Amino acid sequence: MNKALTLLFLSGILISCTKEPAQLSVTSPNGINSIDFHLSEDGTPYYFVNHNDKIVVDSSSMSFDFKNQESLKDGLSIINSTTNTIDETWEMPWGEQKDVVNNYNELVVELEETQAPNRKFNIHFRAYDDGIGFRYEFLQQQNIDSIIIMDENTEFQLTEDYTTWWIPGDWDIYEHLYNTTKISEIDAISKRNNADLAQTYIPENAVNTPVTMRGANGLHLSFHEANLTDYAGMTLKVDNESLLLTSELVGSNRLGYKVKRELPFKTPWRSIQIADRAGDLIESKLIVNLNEPNKLGDISWFKPKKYVGIWWEMHVGKSTWDYAGSQDMNTFTKDLKPTGKHGATTENTKRYIDFAAKNNITGVLVEGWNTGWEHWIGFEDREGVFDFVTPYPDYDLEELNRYAKEKGVDIIMHHETSAAPRTYEQQLDTAYQLMNQLGIHSVKTGYVGKIIPEGEYHHGQWMVNHYRKVLETGAKYNVAINAHEPIKATGIRRTYPNAIAREGLRGQEFNAWSADGGNPAEHLPIVAFTRMLAGPIDFTPGVFDIEIPSKENNRVSTTLAQQLALYVVIYGPVQMACDLPENYEGKPALQFIRDVGVDWDESKVLNGEVGDYVSIARKERETGNWFVGGITDENAREVTIDFDFLDDGVEYEAIIYKDAEDANYENNPTAITIEDIDIGKDSSLTVQMAEGGGFAISLLKKNG
Ligand code: NOJ
Ligand code: CA
Repeated sequence: MNKALTLLFLSGILISCTKEPAQLSVTSPNGINSIDFHLSEDGTPYYFVNHNDKIVVDSSSMSFDFKNQESLKDGLSIINSTTNTIDETWEMPWGEQKDVVNNYNELVVELEETQAPNRKFNIHFRAYDDGIGFRYEFLQQQNIDSIIIMDENTEFQLTEDYTTWWIPGDWDIYEHLYNTTKISEIDAISKRNNADLAQTYIPENAVNTPVTMRGANGLHLSFHEANLTDYAGMTLKVDNESLLLTSELVGSNRLGYKVKRELPFKTPWRSIQIADRAGDLIESKLIVNLNEPNKLGDISWFKPKKYVGIWWEMHVGKSTWDYAGSQDMNTFTKDLKPTGKHGATTENTKRYIDFAAKNNITGVLVEGWNTGWEHWIGFEDREGVFDFVTPYPDYDLEELNRYAKEKGVDIIMHHETSAAPRTYEQQLDTAYQLMNQLGIHSVKTGYVGKIIPEGEYHHGQWMVNHYRKVLETGAKYNVAINAHEPIKATGIRRTYPNAIAREGLRGQEFNAWSADGGNPAEHLPIVAFTRMLAGPIDFTPGVFDIEIPSKENNRVSTTLAQQLALYVVIYGPVQMACDLPENYEGKPALQFIRDVGVDWDESKVLNGEVGDYVSIARKERETGNWFVGGITDENAREVTIDFDFLDDGVEYEAIIYKDAEDANYENNPTAITIEDIDIGKDSSLTVQMAEGGGFAISLLKKNG
């Protein structure tokens, strides 16, 4: 008898003497997914997850260890249970689609210890057609007003040695390359000592989420969490032999615990997206559905946008963030003397504003505009380094803001904190007030380096609360946040739609300088099915100068056509055209960046396999135009696109940007063919993608 059956059997016995139901269950609206819950003989809670009557998570227990309190583990009894059904539709103020159906069945199990201290504890389960979620609710207890969690032990007992796409369970950064191995082969420890990361801490063999896996029969699972609020981020500890994943919360070595909370409270949701087709993972709205509705109301002050910026030029070594020093981050120069290499000058910014205005791009990000960049990383005492309101002498903040507005362009503010959140919090109100006064409505934040105070990590409760405080303060001043080195996306954008985008992955920047030569061609076909399930990404696509001549050992490992495709494939409400204006000028492919939308009515994943390829079609909100993007890994491939998703009775002018016949990412990345044809709902098109290649199609309405 397997473990699951044994437990069922045991709980059956328990039931017959206590008259409690043998097993509580909840099934998704269409019946495809279900969760079973029961207590074992000693009162330990267990759950299973089934998909199509197959067990996908076998008997898994749930428990908590506390400081100064017994563990909450067993000796529990079911005192009540309730069920509920929700079927509603809500609207995304901006997003990859407009209307989101939120349809689930819920089971709430109320538990109580049979012996003193008779603690009470509820578990909420939700079964959706695209996956499941559950969370814990800690109730008010007599004489206890807060609890300190030393460990949450939520188990996920896998039933198969899945092929898995994973990054290590780093407490400080998500910017690792994805690995493709069996669960039994996951070795996160081997990912320590990464020379490209300013901070990294991998305490054990664990993975970060979303972690996506595929079974022998084509079933896909992706494990993550939703609504990470006032709690520590969750990694998943891996037992290579028993195929058991167990939650491992990010801790605080300063405070010596994982989470401290006042009672009562609910934990984040533990979520599993379940799909037979890989593309359904991307279409799944489970993560946002597990979050609470919009708390901010109208946020029309934020407009989704394409943007350029004084950014790539620093990453490729053409200019510097700092006014006085050099590109070498460890050089500290006391006297402010311009070197002539400072990127964020008034003149250079005007050049970017002009370029944006000419090319249907409405944002300009400027990094290195404020004081502090002379000496900002690689040393301990970084409190007070950055000033978020004082520009360098060669950057005229007010004039540039005026100039941009006159041209219909918004400046995007930049706040690099060098991982000193206390310094940032001290200045938050002042800095956001200034932005508000200037009518600047979005900021890119950054947290490069080890968090100060020492012992805190980017993904622990203390930082989760910092990132939330930034969102809340932003909301007060009509400021939207695009965080780099962030806490992972967990669907918070539904509740705080000023959480517009974030990094939280190995972005384009690694192609400019990483010691390992940049992102391999398979990177983005993995990202689309892993990191992207969590939420919008600021990947910064659009490199045209693929071989980066100024960098001997670095280049982009995609074709130019793939760089275009990324505007559709990788979703974000702010999309950078990251290359230098001079690299775009005169290039016919720039027309795609001019045309492509950034805010969508609907999105459809047309095809795809994790780590191999994916094609996505999206319909622009304002115009009704459609855009299609497809990308492949290091293998060339042919895909056929059926245009049956197009609107009835509408003719579209299709501009197709695809790899030229002799293109490939290694030797001939910029060879591109551009075709202009008419397309309608009945059309189909076969496209060849080169090695590391892709295609992008603008479908511009001709009538209707
Ligand atoms: C890291 C960010 O990811 C990058 O985009 C930024 O330019 C640097 N930090 C400096 O803030
Ligand atoms: Ca980064």
